[in-house]
Amino acid sequence: MKKILLKGGEVVSAEGSMIADVFFEDGKIVEVGESLNPENCEVIDCEGKIVMPGAIDVHVHFRCPGGEQKEDWSHASAAAASGGVTTVFDMPNNTPEIVDLESFAVKKEIIEGRSHVNYGIYMGYNGKNSDEINNAKNIPGVKIYCAHSTGNMGVEGEFLEKVFKEIDPGIKLLFHSEDEDCIQGNLEKLKAEGRELTPSDHSKIRGPECALKMTKELCQLAKKHERPIHICHVSTEAEAEEISKYSELVTCEVAPHHLTLSVDDYQKWGNYIKMNPPVRDSKDLFGLWKALKFGQIDLIATDHAPHTREEKEKPYPEAPSGVPGVEMMLPILLNAVSAEGLSLEEVCKLVCEKPAELFNIKDKGRIEKGYDADIVVIDMDLEKKFEDKDVKSKCGWSPYSGGLYQGWPIMTYVNGLLVYKEGEVAPRYVGKEVSFS
Ligand code: DOR
Ligand code: ZN
Repeated sequence: MKKILLKGGEVVSAEGSMIADVFFEDGKIVEVGESLNPENCEVIDCEGKIVMPGAIDVHVHFRCPGGEQKEDWSHASAAAASGGVTTVFDMPNNTPEIVDLESFAVKKEIIEGRSHVNYGIYMGYNGKNSDEINNAKNIPGVKIYCAHSTGNMGVEGEFLEKVFKEIDPGIKLLFHSEDEDCIQGNLEKLKAEGRELTPSDHSKIRGPECALKMTKELCQLAKKHERPIHICHVSTEAEAEEISKYSELVTCEVAPHHLTLSVDDYQKWGNYIKMNPPVRDSKDLFGLWKALKFGQIDLIATDHAPHTREEKEKPYPEAPSGVPGVEMMLPILLNAVSAEGLSLEEVCKLVCEKPAELFNIKDKGRIEKGYDADIVVIDMDLEKKFEDKDVKSKCGWSPYSGGLYQGWPIMTYVNGLLVYKEGEVAPRYVGKEVSFS
């Protein structure tokens, strides 16, 4: 296999940055240091560029099996690679749902040899499949939907507590935290008004109080059972504050769309920004940035959940929830760095080091000797408008289209191989299933 030397870039870690050369061979980082000069290697001039570990997105919906009209691994993993994401963990709300060892094996077979980036596959909890989950091998965790979302996998009440009792302690519990009764109550109230529901009603139906109610309940359960949990896509400042009171036990993620879109954007985007949990008001949007700066948010994950334009063009009640995001997570964060809202070190912590550490992913998330050569080279001077024509996800649209962003991935290496360079994805599938240590 080719030996590669990335020469003279600014190598980033959460602790700091330094100008250094990075040498890798056979998919592994061999050495990081000054003036390296190994023999017979391809030398890539990285002067003036940022060299960062590939981003790890622990929350994506790549839709296979069952949603191939919306997305598939070829498109979605190309989108990931072009956005500097080198590892993704895929959610279980497929058709069929990934709730037993058989559906898990089928899904694994679908992905094998068809991904440009590395991956892990979650299982889902349906209230009666603890044994299947406990017998699964090499899963990043189990997803529990406390309310119905795409796929209607919601479990409630006594089933929720059963998770804590029945799932083996070594398996990470990840929650979609919204309260179904609260949502249904709000829906009834709005329906009673007798008018047609529109996209912006989504943020009222699935109101902030429904998310906070469930997050409080989950934090209490974590404490009662002394069991760590992870809360997905936190969308309100109040939840971030609540979770921070339980920081020993409860970790959380925020999605890029909750940091960039608000209820003010329904007018432009309508159902295209219908997602669960929904966009909030600008106070929460800024509150989440504050929480991020205060270290209350452990990581950023995209909840990449594409749907076709045709589906999104349906009337509000029928239009599915979810937005694509995997290719824009890093550009959005890099743009925040350009605007001096974040540092590169913070970005590296939020999307590389912390995900690797929290999920115990083997040999990922750092540019250090012995780690996998999953690396993204970034041009912080590159300013580019993102358009639908740039979208690599199969859905072909993005809520970020039309935006100007400064700071872009220009090269992405996965397992030591170049998979993305300046707009083009190499036609080879080098992604492997990750391991957990
Ligand atoms: O908006 C969402 N879309 N939230 C979810 O929980 C699921 C996701 C999807 O799969 O479409
Ligand atoms: Zn999701």
